[in-house]
Amino acid sequence: MAKVRTAILISGGGSNMAALIAAAQDRDYPAEIVLVAASNPQAGGLIKAKAAAVPALPFDHKSFDREGLERAVDAELEKAGVELVCLAGWMRLLSPYLIDKWRDRMINIHPSLLPDLKGLHTHQRALDAGAKEHGCTVHYVRQEMDVGPIIAQARVPVLPNDNADSLAARVLAAEHQLYPHALKLVASGRVRVEGERVVTDDAPANPVR
Ligand code: GRF
Repeated sequence: MAKVRTAILISGGGSNMAALIAAAQDRDYPAEIVLVAASNPQAGGLIKAKAAAVPALPFDHKSFDREGLERAVDAELEKAGVELVCLAGWMRLLSPYLIDKWRDRMINIHPSLLPDLKGLHTHQRALDAGAKEHGCTVHYVRQEMDVGPIIAQARVPVLPNDNADSLAARVLAAEHQLYPHALKLVASGRVRVEGERVVTDDAPANPVR
């Protein structure tokens, strides 16, 4: 079966991007990473993408307004025949232009168990709240930040001596497992959005218990 042509949008180190590229090297993986775009020319992920022989395009967000940046990126997505977009640390708020155009074809990873802890500094906020568990979520992108139908989540424990860095490292390791799993679910067509929830095709949408 043809692989789903997938782009990854980054702004930084791109460790999630690298996990997706590595997973997609498997012959049976349903997605192919055809393009990486960065909102910042210094993004470390650009070097990693090139090293993996994935076309990687730098954009300087300072040269554009929000929609201008998105239109420039979108033109490259179209040119590369992209069908699905993964946000992986794209640290720019998105405008309705890109979100509406890629509705149900754009997914994001967020470092918390949504709907808890939307926004920034999730690890410190989990510690401050005394949470015993924390984690990460892959979801479809909607206009409201860190909101959208949830595809998959992974949990990690919060340990007694954790600080924000140790907890972030544990969550990031979980992200590197979760994102390839979630992309596989989406690209293989096993999940779809129904009434703003994700349903899995091999399970009934409304199981009767
Ligand atoms: C990750 O924590 C991800 O959850 C968040 O941004 C970070 C990106 O890290 N959306 P990396 O660039 O993938 O290492």
